[in-house]
Amino acid sequence: MIREQTTARERAALMRNYGRYPVEFVRGEGAWLYDPADRGYLDLMSGISMINTGHCHPAVVAAIREQAGVLINTSNLYYTDPMIALAEWIRDTSMGGRVFFCNSGAEASEAAIKLARKHGGPERTEFVSLENGFHGRTMGALALTGQPDKQEAFRPLMPGVRYVPRNDGDALRAAVGERTCAIAIEIVQGECGVHPLDDEFVHLARTLADDSGALLIVDEIQTGMSRTGPLYAYQDVGIEPDIMCLAKSLGGGVPIGAITARPGIDDTFQPGDHGSTFAGSPLACAAALAAARVLADPVLQQHVRTEGSRFLTGLQGLVDDGLATAARGRGLMCAIDLPDDRGGQVVIDMLDRGFLVNNTSARTVRFLPPLVVTGDDLASALVALRAVLSA
Ligand SMILES: Cc1ncc(COP(=O)(O)O)c(C=O)c1O
Repeated sequence: MIREQTTARERAALMRNYGRYPVEFVRGEGAWLYDPADRGYLDLMSGISMINTGHCHPAVVAAIREQAGVLINTSNLYYTDPMIALAEWIRDTSMGGRVFFCNSGAEASEAAIKLARKHGGPERTEFVSLENGFHGRTMGALALTGQPDKQEAFRPLMPGVRYVPRNDGDALRAAVGERTCAIAIEIVQGECGVHPLDDEFVHLARTLADDSGALLIVDEIQTGMSRTGPLYAYQDVGIEPDIMCLAKSLGGGVPIGAITARPGIDDTFQPGDHGSTFAGSPLACAAALAAARVLADPVLQQHVRTEGSRFLTGLQGLVDDGLATAARGRGLMCAIDLPDDRGGQVVIDMLDRGFLVNNTSARTVRFLPPLVVTGDDLASALVALRAVLSA
């Protein structure tokens, strides 16, 4: 339900860039969100993989409470311990290189673009990214986002980006050249409907980057923080990025973004090259460190693999019964394709039944539950989905 006046106040006060569903939330706990009448909704979206810990995880709440009473923010002009501790944690769990903090996924993409451009120098100014990929909505990130419908109103974009269909090795070979400063990929393309890249394609991107002198940027903003099983999705593929982008679930719900680069590339930025007022705040970093420790737990990662595979089997059952045409997933990042254009209606029908899902297109419905979701909750979601699709 929505409280009286909420929609009218929203319409009068907020710009119209979001279409919102007819529900208002006032509190959350674990995989559940509650409306003003205290009706519970099973969250199968996690704010688009932004709160993998589940809502109000006690460890994150405690870290925020403690840090908020001590020091919320100061400035990147000074040393603060939570920022250093979180950078050490990211460095030590990924490629061993230094970290730059920002406040969102788009900002992480922008930082990666600037790092790659500076590293490439004046002769290497081009990027290669993937059709239907998503890297954010600010102007640089939008240029890497190979989706003309999202770009159209904002042309001219940052020039020099070539787009390649996912898993098309020949197209990738043809696009990468001596002017390429970086290839940007997601290991699983999330926003366009959960499409994993073939391992061979990712390895080819790594090889082409090495051979041509370009950098490989891996955007783990949606796939990261154990969403697909490993802490970072690239770790299941057997390559290492030159630059990795993080955001979303890194903060346990608090805004933060980061990039890390391999040693040798991580010293490209010098004082004055890049920065952000809020970035790396003690509050965000303390929350992120607490969330990171929750999400890196091998027991939770095994839960993601086990429940993800069970859930995908359930989704495949819908395909077998003709209710869906395809089911895809890695860990707890899953989607189904529908035989018709009912995606938007399926979201509404699921909402009516108390389940939050989202459609990435008229024909694709995506599932990104908090990683703490129980097998029983996922089973109940499958029952509801089957009923909705059968109606
Ligand atoms: C892979 C990927 N990169 C970048 C972004 C942009 O992140 P933000 O919305 O925090 O700017 C998203 C957001 O959905 C994403 O999924």
